[in-house]
Amino acid sequence: MPPVGVFVSRVCLNDCEIRGQFYPKGANVTVLPYTVHRNEENWHRASEFIPERFLDWNDKGSLKWIPFGVGPRFCVGMRFAEMEFKTTIAKLVDKFEMDMTGEPDIVPDCNGVIMRPKDPVRVNLRKRV
Ligand code: HEM
Repeated sequence: MPPVGVFVSRVCLNDCEIRGQFYPKGANVTVLPYTVHRNEENWHRASEFIPERFLDWNDKGSLKWIPFGVGPRFCVGMRFAEMEFKTTIAKLVDKFEMDMTGEPDIVPDCNGVIMRPKDPVRVNLRKRV
């Protein structure tokens, strides 16, 4: 579930054709990471939350996983962002036990750029003693 839904855009420098689709010079082409991540040609059981799929996955340079974009203009803050969310999760797990009541039915919502769950995702926290 990419947090940035619509941001990976490029302008065509020349007329070109890709897989039968014509793109004129000057056209603005936007790639939606969400649809790339949900494409069954890229991922087995693409719509399911299976974080274990990344345990032995070593294909980061491919175009199948692009939450931070791709190429020379990919997100300059990627390493910082990864450090932020790893630190946040480590601090939370250190201080709290966490679980959920049932399987949340997460409906994605996009405000134009940022994606997030439409409804709150409720997590039970118990302070570790
Ligand atoms: C989870 C957090 C973040 C996500 C998912 C994210 C995602 C993205 C995406 C998809 C792009 C477009 C890349 C492309 O066009 O190929 C981008 C660009 C960019 N991001 Fe992030 N970003 C995140 C955090 C950050 C942070 C923390 C910073 C700065 C501290 C940052 C700074 C930038 C900048 C400056 C660009 C423009 C790069 C360029 O055009 O050369 N981002 N980001």
